[in-house]
Amino acid sequence: MSTTLCGSPWTAVIAAKTLKRKPLSIYFQQQPVVLFRSGDHIAALLDRCPHRGALLSAGKVCGTSLQCPYHGWQFDGSGRQTGFPGIPETAKCPAFNIKAFDAVEDSGLIWLREQVPDADTGRRFVPAVHHSHTCFTVAASINAGLVDIAENFLDALHTHFIHPGNIRSQTHQRHLCEVTVTQVEDGYQALYVETKQQSGLISRLFGQGISHSIGRIRHPGIAEIEYHSNTGIELSVVIYLRQETGQRCQLIFRNYFRRRIIPGWLQQAALAPFQYLALKQDKHILESSANNVSNCPDFHPIISRYDVMRPYIEKALQGQIDDTHEQLQLML
Ligand code: FES
Ligand SMILES: [Fe+2]
Repeated sequence: MSTTLCGSPWTAVIAAKTLKRKPLSIYFQQQPVVLFRSGDHIAALLDRCPHRGALLSAGKVCGTSLQCPYHGWQFDGSGRQTGFPGIPETAKCPAFNIKAFDAVEDSGLIWLREQVPDADTGRRFVPAVHHSHTCFTVAASINAGLVDIAENFLDALHTHFIHPGNIRSQTHQRHLCEVTVTQVEDGYQALYVETKQQSGLISRLFGQGISHSIGRIRHPGIAEIEYHSNTGIELSVVIYLRQETGQRCQLIFRNYFRRRIIPGWLQQAALAPFQYLALKQDKHILESSANNVSNCPDFHPIISRYDVMRPYIEKALQGQIDDTHEQLQLML
């Protein structure tokens, strides 16, 4: 069976705590967007005043409206013009409105999508562990393509070289890993069952009792890495990916730790330096590779069978979900 996911999906754009009193400028689907808190709601407008094109994000929030810094026009969260300073109250002048996006705050994230008539419909992916585990959120940006970045997080074969000693070791003898790829409702997952424990430092800290791990990609751009023991998920890393402009991606990482005697903040404190180092290493190789091919329109990456998730990432991002059951072996 084959399914195509359509409609305008919600995309997680920033951690909600990032948006305070001041308006905030982001890029969403190649458009500049200003986010602000309009009363109890989140508002998202095109960040370009329709009058002379000023950056609305350089303006200020007045009540439930956003005021342009140039001539003071105001717009509410729906994009309706609510203020026109200097015009007599009795004057008749049409309202000049601005493009608005659907925006909500949910589960500690701010989500956007193109406006659709019923703003309450549509799915926002929040993992089940959000309610059972302790969550920590970190943001990052990488100058590379979204497919390459998503693949990097779900690719085991680069870890020995890019993260030696951190995630996997180059000096340990490799061991067999059985990989099974199947579809999920909105994407694909690879189940990894290794004959030995992962060799790097992170797994020695967090990998005790890990029986298998899962790498997953979901439409419209969510990668997950889960470490399972026989009794449940010990650690899950959810990465919300968003292509901001041509070659720039924004990422929101959410680390979910199983609640245990060691408090979550201590687990996060122990993981943070290793995760930060791994992210720096990934960022470096992704950005230097992207830069290296940026002037080569003829470059077509080789996708072998052992680039396990690459074709599935491409299909999931396009919303193409096919019945899948693929098995292969890797030496990790
Ligand atoms: S440019 Fe915004 S009010 Fe004039
Ligand atoms: Fe990596």
